[in-house]
Amino acid sequence: MERIFGRPIVTQEEMRARIKELGKQIANDYTGKDLVLVGVLKGAYAFYADLARAIRIPMRVDFLIVASYGGQSKTSGKVKVITELTEDIKGKDVLLVEDIVDSGLTVQYLIKTLTKHKPKSIKVCTLLSKPERRTIDVALDYIGFKIPNQYVVGYGLDYQQKYRNLPYLAVLDMDGDQE
Ligand code: IMP
Ligand code: MG
Repeated sequence: MERIFGRPIVTQEEMRARIKELGKQIANDYTGKDLVLVGVLKGAYAFYADLARAIRIPMRVDFLIVASYGGQSKTSGKVKVITELTEDIKGKDVLLVEDIVDSGLTVQYLIKTLTKHKPKSIKVCTLLSKPERRTIDVALDYIGFKIPNQYVVGYGLDYQQKYRNLPYLAVLDMDGDQE
């Protein structure tokens, strides 16, 4: 792995501690409910695996594979859902698990799509949020960390499909990001 990323902005220890807190909070909020934890792949895979194990109540797991047109470090907001859910979410309490909310377009689109299946509720849990970049006012129910307007990689997040396996979160060191 060529080193074009810098020091961690969120370390593995900080990540572990925050996810433990989120898991407790979610377990508390969803006790007695019919929770389906829906992970948005690929970006959420690392966060999802850790979060799911921190939520100590019975629940179902499911995933959506989503691809955004656009590529590079730009977010086009045009989302393509490549797979269907395998669980029937009708009447269930869906918690959407995202890696990062940037403009908000992806989350808005996914909520709209999932709503068609008539779940009882839909909430959003995102590891990261970049509030400065928001163009759509989406309600985020659980946020791991708010980060400044910088392009980050690692812990599931990619730059041109690489660096997802970096075990911590780092700022990508490149010129003209987020143009
Ligand atoms: P949104 O639709 O603009 O909210 O963008 C959300 C998607 O953009 C995320 O799911 C990521 O795939 C991607 N994204 C936005 N910012 C970053 C970043 O800093 N690093 C890696 N991916 C990002
Ligand atoms: Mg993503």
